[in-house]
Amino acid sequence: MAKLHPDLLNKEFWYRDITLISNFLPDFERDEVDLTTYFTKRIILKTPLVSAPMDTVTEAEMAIIMALYGGIGVIHYNFPTINEQIEEVEKVKRFEAGFVFNPIVLSPQNTIKDIYNVAEKYGFFSTPITEDGTLNSRLVGIVTHRDVRYRKDMETKLKEVMTPREKLIVAKKSETTDKNDLTAANNILKKHNLDTLPVIDEKDRIVALVAEGDLEKNKQFPLATKNANKQLKVFVAVESRLKLAQERIKKAITAGIDGIVIDASVVFKEQLEIAKYCKENFPVLEVVMGNVASAEVVRKIIEQGFDYCDAIKIGMGPGAACITQQELGTGRAQASAVWDCCQEAKRLESKYGFMPMIADGGIKIIDEVGVKTPKPGDISKALALGAQTVMMGSILAGLDESPGQAEFDYEENKMVKKYRGMGSLEAMKGTSAVRYAVDKVKIKIAEGIVTKVPYRGSGHDFLPKLIVGVKQSLQKQGFKNIRELQEEADIRPI
Ligand code: XMP
Repeated sequence: MAKLHPDLLNKEFWYRDITLISNFLPDFERDEVDLTTYFTKRIILKTPLVSAPMDTVTEAEMAIIMALYGGIGVIHYNFPTINEQIEEVEKVKRFEAGFVFNPIVLSPQNTIKDIYNVAEKYGFFSTPITEDGTLNSRLVGIVTHRDVRYRKDMETKLKEVMTPREKLIVAKKSETTDKNDLTAANNILKKHNLDTLPVIDEKDRIVALVAEGDLEKNKQFPLATKNANKQLKVFVAVESRLKLAQERIKKAITAGIDGIVIDASVVFKEQLEIAKYCKENFPVLEVVMGNVASAEVVRKIIEQGFDYCDAIKIGMGPGAACITQQELGTGRAQASAVWDCCQEAKRLESKYGFMPMIADGGIKIIDEVGVKTPKPGDISKALALGAQTVMMGSILAGLDESPGQAEFDYEENKMVKKYRGMGSLEAMKGTSAVRYAVDKVKIKIAEGIVTKVPYRGSGHDFLPKLIVGVKQSLQKQGFKNIRELQEEADIRPI
């Protein structure tokens, strides 16, 4: 077990108050460090990073990039309707797939403009055309980017530009999807040098699509968090109110979510009921509960709901946009909360089993002026204190992949992006008031602020650097993986 310096015992401390001492002579390269970890009991990540369910952090684009680099994203629920949250899930699921089941289809009467709308909404052009524009009728053609790129008249009907059925190469359902044989489909794609391969049933109806670009993406992102069908995994946040959560879960499961985060600033008893409902009705889903900040609450969740809960999220008020501690006088220094909660989960492991712990909030990175590599020391500290993963908001909110546009801040003289706490009055005008259990009352007290974070550019640049930074920290201490770090870390006051 990691060693906590005696001066820290029975003390409250933040990440900034501690440091990790190196007691070994490392004899391996940084890139040999393996960051594989558990997000939940059944979901393994190659990278211990999770993006927070906040409306300035995680929608489809963020969830996609997090999953591509081996982490995972949790899509927030602060949309006007549930369907809008589900659409974000669908975008993630369609992004990279082996077989794209239920592909978007159009009819011959649709126009080129409709193809551009599909491209804008979902990020791809290739669209099968069926007799009546639904999956229930025969395939009559396909439209790809090549067919429309030089066309000026947006009102041109697709029947005039599509490659008709008789010229299409297709794969049979019985030989591909029925056997879950992606290789067979890929071989046809390669042999005929195709962009897109429709898979059809015996009645010539389209059941799936395989796209050439996806094969490339599969090779490019070896760490990606994917299911057996090569779709990226994604979670959604749901309310801590049973009725609301039930409605959301029922819709989200049809879009293919992998699990839920029952989201609340502090865990409510109702979460146990929601978790139980979810496990009993949708056992494939993983369930994350939270937030907690003390060993006592961890014990209560494990004792009362171990079978319904697959991970516990730690953090009361440490976030960059949080003011709970100042406003309400409740909350806790995050590093000591992580230590206590993880110690308790460990202590109960022999009796109940393994419970993954998520350190949520308070992760800061230093980006020095002119140096583009972030210093991810807080992440290593959270892992050393016992967390299997870290959830982050503010450091991801500055990326291109977060919702909203970067803008120039004339006071600070730099590019920034907006970041707001889900407990800010502005965010609570939406559904996020539930997160603070003030959805049923008139007077709302802010537990979060609206602020700005430095613009950090593309996640494709930022995340790989963040990940190698964590690896370098482990290597310096002589640990090849997170398990060794958690067993041997030497945690001292700074
Ligand atoms: P960071 O520090 O990464 O924290 O920005 C992200 C986490 O902060 C929590 N969160 C809030 N906490 N008031 C709070 O007390 C808020 O308005 C608020 N909004 C988000 C949340 O747990 C998130 O993952």
